[in-house]
Amino acid sequence: MAERKGGTKLKLGVLISGRGSNLQALIDASANPDYPAEIALVVSNVPNAKGLERCRQPNIATAVIDHKDFDDRESFEAELDKTLRASGVGLVCLAGFMRLLTDTFVNRWHDRLINIHPSLLPAFKGINVHERAVEAGVRIAGCTVHYVRPAMDDGPIIVQAAVPVHPDDDADTLAARVLTHEHRIYPLVVSLIAEGRVRVASERVLIDDVHSSEETLINPIDRR
Ligand code: GRF
Repeated sequence: MAERKGGTKLKLGVLISGRGSNLQALIDASANPDYPAEIALVVSNVPNAKGLERCRQPNIATAVIDHKDFDDRESFEAELDKTLRASGVGLVCLAGFMRLLTDTFVNRWHDRLINIHPSLLPAFKGINVHERAVEAGVRIAGCTVHYVRPAMDDGPIIVQAAVPVHPDDDADTLAARVLTHEHRIYPLVVSLIAEGRVRVASERVLIDDVHSSEETLINPIDRR
């Protein structure tokens, strides 16, 4: 059983704003007693976010910190920071959290704050990623889990997954294909971090004891 030194599990704080399917992937993974991390707290900045409902049955603690209740980003983030610390959170996972975080918050959680983004970063940062990918005619899309740095969708890449873009794809079909892989790589990254196998050196991530794929993905395949 892979656990952190001292036998305790890494405590996660998951930040959401919406549907929470990546949160669900983390809930499902942590239901396995051998998983080396546990969800200590889910925080939503949106009071009726669907993701909050996912916490009810597994009895996961939730907090709503509505940014609209605060005068500025700093006071909102101060509350967020305080709440995460009070729950003993060791790793913050952004999972569809639709607020930009200030440098102060990001630097305070340096290398303890990760994000999932539905593109192969550094391509297609920002929003409307799948529309833009289809419009650009890219043949390969995917998703990325990375450490968060102050610039948007920036920071050392930990794991990526690639999927083909089909000729008849629209933003929705592509999003669905990418999402399946988001749900695989987010729990994977959390377990790698919880097992102490991820290091950041000169802003690149090194992972102990993982084997790189030798496959080349060419899309479309030329069968001649
Ligand atoms: C995901 O596509 C994630 O990559 C992006 O926001 C979306 C959140 O979806 N950052 P969900 O709330 O986890 O279902």
